[in-house]
This record gives sequence, C-alpha cells and structure tokens, in this order.
Amino acid sequence: MTRIIPVSPFDYVVFGGSGDLARRKLLPALFRRFADGQFDANSRVIGVSRGEVSQEEYRATAAKALSDHIPEAERPADLVDSFLRCVDHVALDVSSDEGWPRLAAALRDDTDRTRVFYLAVAPDLYGQICVGLGCAGLATPRSRVVLEKPLGYDLASAEAINGVVAGVFDEGQIYRIDHYLGKETVQNLMALRFANALFEPVWNSAHIDHVQITVAESIGMAGRANYYDRAGALRDMVQNHLLQLLCLVAIEPPASSAADALRDEKLKVLHALKPIEDDAANRLTVRGQYRAVEADKVSVPGYVDELGRPSNTETFVAIKAEVANWRWAGTPFYLRTGKRMARRVSEIVIQFRDIPHSMFELSAGRIVANRLVLRLQPDEAVQLFLMIKDPGPGGMRLRQVPLNLSFAETFGVRQPDAYERLLLDVVRGNQSLFMRRDEVAAAWSWIDPIRDSWERLGEPLHGYIGGTWGPSASIALMERDHRSWHDDGT
Ligand code: BG6
Repeated sequence: MTRIIPVSPFDYVVFGGSGDLARRKLLPALFRRFADGQFDANSRVIGVSRGEVSQEEYRATAAKALSDHIPEAERPADLVDSFLRCVDHVALDVSSDEGWPRLAAALRDDTDRTRVFYLAVAPDLYGQICVGLGCAGLATPRSRVVLEKPLGYDLASAEAINGVVAGVFDEGQIYRIDHYLGKETVQNLMALRFANALFEPVWNSAHIDHVQITVAESIGMAGRANYYDRAGALRDMVQNHLLQLLCLVAIEPPASSAADALRDEKLKVLHALKPIEDDAANRLTVRGQYRAVEADKVSVPGYVDELGRPSNTETFVAIKAEVANWRWAGTPFYLRTGKRMARRVSEIVIQFRDIPHSMFELSAGRIVANRLVLRLQPDEAVQLFLMIKDPGPGGMRLRQVPLNLSFAETFGVRQPDAYERLLLDVVRGNQSLFMRRDEVAAAWSWIDPIRDSWERLGEPLHGYIGGTWGPSASIALMERDHRSWHDDGT
C-alpha cells in the first residue's frame, strides 16, 4: 500500500513553464501528486515564461500536457479542474528587470510559505534567474531552487554557475536534480543493499567479477538538436545518470539516511574513480554515432541526417571504469549508453565470480556464475540468476534460472514517474536524492579529462547502425576482457 504524506500548501514556480520538460514531466507529475491527495487546492503552480500568456491560455496548455501524458482513466475531469484552478502564469523575460514585480505580486508576499523555484531552462540562465530572484527579494529563507541537469558544460562552467547560485541561496536550499535517483529501482538498489543482510558480505571484488550499467534508448535526439549536439552522450548521460548509478552500486553503507550521509559516501566513490586520460581514453572508452538504416522498406535517418549537418558529437559511449579503493580494486565497472539502440532498457548488472571448484560431472552442464540484474526500465524488476537442478529424473543436469521479482506483477500498482517523488521531496526539504555541489564538481573532474583526451588524440567516432547495441568496438571492449554485455536477458 502506498503511504501518502500530505504536505503544507506551497508555491511551485516553474521557469520554462511552457517548455518541453514542464509539459512532459513537471505538470503531469504535480497533477499526479495532487490527485493522490498529497497537496490540496491551497498550493499553487506558477508557470513562468517570456510570452504574454493569459491565465486561461496557460491553464489550457497545462490541460493539454495532462491529456497528452496521462491516460484518460487516471485523470477524472473534476480533479483536473481543481488542479487547474491552482495553476497560474507570469510573463517574465529573465534578461530584463521588468517582470520581477509581477512574479512578486503573484507570490503575494507570503514569506512563510515554502516556495520552490524550478529552473527548467538552459543552464546559462540559472545565474541570471537566481540573481533576479535575489534582487526582487523573492529568495526567502523558506525558498528552494531546483537546477536541472546538465549543470554546466565542464567543471569550470559548472563551478561558475554554482558560484552565482550560491550568492543567493544556501547549499541547503539548492536541489540539483538527477531524475534517475527518483526511479523506483534505483531506490530499490539501496533497499536491496542496505535493508538485507544477504548481499553486503559478497558486495566486493572478492565475489563480484564486474558490474555493467547500461542505459540504452531507442529514440534519437528527439528534436533537441541544439542542446544535444553541443552536449553529446558523455555530458548528457554519463556525467550525471550513469555516474550516479555507479555511485549507488559502489558506496559504503551510509551511517544514516540523512542526505549528507549518503552524499558523503557518493563523493568518496567519485573521488576514487581512476582518471582516464591520454592513451587510456583510447583503450578504455568507445565513442559512437548512429548511422542511417535502409533495409526491407525500413528507413531510419542517421544522426547527421537528423541534424542536417556534419557532426563529431557522440550519441553512444562505452567506458571501462575503475573504482580504485579497497572494496572494488580488480572489479571493472562497464558503462554504456546510447541513442537509437536496439531497445529501450536501463539495467544494472552485478556479475558474480565463478564458483572456485565444481563437484559435478561435466555431463551436468556448464555452471554459469550468478548474476543480479536490476532493471530500471521498462518493466522494473530485480532478477537473481541462480543454478538449479533441472527438474525430473535422468540424473543431475544443471540449469540457470532467474528468481524474478517483477514490480508490476508483485505489487500491481502503477510505478510513479521519478519526477513525482523528487518534486515533492523538494517541498519536504529532503535533499537525499539531489546532488551536492562537490559531487557535481567531482563528476566533471572525472569527465573532463576523457573529453580532453578525445579531442587531443582525435579519438575515432565509430558508426553504428540505428537499432543495434552500438559499435562493434564496444563489444570488443568487453571481449578483450573475456566478458560480454548482458543484452539478451540471459
Ligand atoms: C535526460 C537526457 O536527462 O534523460 C535525455 O537529457 C534522455 O537525453 C533522458 O533521453 C532519459 O531519461 P529516461 O528517464 O527516459 O531514461
């Protein structure tokens, strides 16, 4: 049974209120929490955008966002109407001084209320918006600011943004969001590790051969050419989502669930990542870009066709990473992410080592090492692959089977979107699933040398056919170590 903890009325101000993220994720997530009774009609959602949009027009935009992204059966008309009555709009061009008094008027000088400023805009506007909020006197002690990823472009730009934001808000008011941390299975990774005695004794390099983290998407750059072509997969996915997943696999057990207890441990992992620079970048990383597919009446454009110009941006990256500490020395972490891959799947695979000695005859069959798979999406599940005896007479034959915990089948409830959890964590003032400034800096410090080495050494960009598992060089990255990617669910 899901437990709903209601929160006191708040004002949620979304900069970029008419943008893609607000329409696709933020408004639907807030509606879901409203529909579940987590907040009531005394709270307000204020969309901020440059256009002179009336309240009615903005409510129509919000209504469309809900109908586009929530199945009809899950949005009864009366609930939608009550939610929309909480929705307002303020026109504000953040580069001018003019709109701020309008925002102040909408916030009604109510300084005791929790205010959230969600910056769903390009990161180069973060500084300007925070300064604007500060100058307009809107950054009250009960205010919080949410920064979307990617935070900056590299360490220097991230630090510059963080520096300006820190001039207006305390670190305790800053929520750097990485929506992967709000995914149910990601939180289950912590439950699995730290609420069970079973795994912790074997959670180390003595028992784990390697870890694989795959975030594969079947979509291309999805109309975000301007942003994506500047970012590429390394900045867009690895610097944040994949490194955060790696951290949660690798951290030492935190002493408590306090936000900083967890974040301190993640920071230690980031600091323990062995730098990848110069020739190592060539050996330990693979960059790729999807190419067009023309086969059997199927025609899918390649990245440069979608972009309409040549580009050296990677849409795929695979990395063999090492966490150089006592627990993990000798256990590589293989990371892989890409657009237009064979299917959409995000998984963490913990591959255990082979048994040291087999008492079985060869005729019993091959003994396959245990493997724990946490599937983040789709179909959230935890699978533990074990060897068992093939049922029935006929002697001892061994076979590998998964112990399968499918969340949909076991709990029969809708899996909430990551944003639902995170948006309300901000209101509650819980920073556990948000990145601290030093974590973001440590992640960039590991990413920047990879990027620099790629540029300096002219690291090749391997083509891969859209709809596959990426360039063959990424398969070779594993095969060189006599390992393979967990692609086919076996
Ligand atoms: C975003 C990236 O952070 O995550 C996108 O900018 C990517 O490029 C998206 O598509 C993937 O999120 P999810 O939740 O669909 O796996």
